[in-house]
Amino acid sequence: MANNVIILAGGQGKRMKINSPKVLCRVLGEPMIEWVMRACEDAGLKDICVVKGFAGEQIDEFVAGRRSVGEVSTVLQAERLGTGHAVMMAEDFLRGHIGGSTLVLCGDAPFIDAATIKGALELHEKKGCGVTVVTSVVEDATGYGRVVRTEEGIAGIVEHKDCTEEQLKIREINSGCYWFDTKALLEVLFEIKPNNAQGEYYLTDCVELMIKKGRTADAYISENPNVALGANDRRGLLKLNDIARMSVIDKWLDEGIEFTCLDGVSIGRDVVIGRGTRIDAGVELRGKTVIGEDCVIGRGCELENTAIGNGVVLNNVHAFDAVVDDNAKIGPFVQLRPGTHICRGVKIGDFVEIKNSTIGEGTAVAHLTYVGDSDVGMNVNFGCGVATANYDGEKKFRTVVGDNAFIGCNTNLVAPVTIGKGAYTAAGSTITGDVPADALAIERGQAVIKEEYAKKKLEKRTRKFEDSRK
Ligand code: UD1
Ligand code: CA
Repeated sequence: MANNVIILAGGQGKRMKINSPKVLCRVLGEPMIEWVMRACEDAGLKDICVVKGFAGEQIDEFVAGRRSVGEVSTVLQAERLGTGHAVMMAEDFLRGHIGGSTLVLCGDAPFIDAATIKGALELHEKKGCGVTVVTSVVEDATGYGRVVRTEEGIAGIVEHKDCTEEQLKIREINSGCYWFDTKALLEVLFEIKPNNAQGEYYLTDCVELMIKKGRTADAYISENPNVALGANDRRGLLKLNDIARMSVIDKWLDEGIEFTCLDGVSIGRDVVIGRGTRIDAGVELRGKTVIGEDCVIGRGCELENTAIGNGVVLNNVHAFDAVVDDNAKIGPFVQLRPGTHICRGVKIGDFVEIKNSTIGEGTAVAHLTYVGDSDVGMNVNFGCGVATANYDGEKKFRTVVGDNAFIGCNTNLVAPVTIGKGAYTAAGSTITGDVPADALAIERGQAVIKEEYAKKKLEKRTRKFEDSRK
């Protein structure tokens, strides 16, 4: 029987002042429970049962929206009566897994890692334990359950509120993560009584109950100093974010990535950065963003699920689900929206937005331009203030611009429209029909000149101004 997992996720983020499950609070952009599930999956565990409680439908939504490696089910703990009670809710799940081992962990302790899970399982199996507790030796054990050691293993876990003076001095704490022999767990689970300081069903009581039944209990000290860390309020969550943030940045420092200043820099754990790339202040890299070699990701860039080639220079670029090829130079103040592909050597200047478009090799879009739903060829030049009119309020239409075309300043390209290869549009034109290759299109009003008209107007204005100064 395969090993399996129960994740406790019943708690409300009361002190976070939110009306959602606490485990959905985000660390480095991902819900805490996502960190926990990933650690399990990285350790090769695929069969997961989540015990939901407060706003459980939000947990279901999260599970449904997630790309899980294996089977993830949920069970409801309608009343919050303690960690032991929470596991009782997963009785059917446990009965379906007799013969294997069950990993129980807290959905709000995001830094559990695969190495710890596997290391603890190794000890658990080697010693044939009924339960193996993952522990951590900490400076300040306040609030945590203390692990009482014996020659052979452990004798029990005592909650902070139930500790004697002596026990309070113990610095080895229960991380809230355990390996159980599934069958042995079922044999003791329903014997747990809520006779303690908090009147709760403590899962930790399983340790003593198992020992009474002649099973071995042991503890595995994790090498990960953050294994037990959780957050109860916003301040605590911010601390977790800082720890996660710095651990990712540390990894990239080891890889030789240059950071000029870490203020506001945040990099998701799945982001990849190539050698020789520099990251400036205020840069946020999220999701599956991949950056090539020798790039400059300048101040204030925000990249989400975006692929950047080699030698790219970005400055204050906000890109979402976009692709940027080698040697492109983009910014400042540019937004690349989903479906954008910027080809090699493209130059994009200030206040430009590109959406769902391909911009061909060597093309320049210098300033104040919107390109939406367009297929733009190579070596095209967009003047200042060009806009594609891609939307008629109902439907979206595409604009096609051929290689070497030149789009004059303030041209409106009213889609669907095609500008042929090498064609020019005159500044200020509103192009509503196709332009053949190599042609010049002028689509604007004729100039009307009224000689001396302005002069009379100006005289009147000047007189008024002079009067006002008297
Ligand atoms: C628990 C452990 C403690 C350990 C600590 C590590 C017990 C009795 N104590 O204490 O030894 O040091 O974790 O963080 O287990 N939950 C439910 N339903 C409930 C109660 C809790 O789903 O009825 C969930 C919570 O949402 C949370 C996890 O279980 O994810 C742990 O619960 P929490 O109340 O934080 O346990 P602690 O008192 O911190
Ligand atoms: Ca806790």
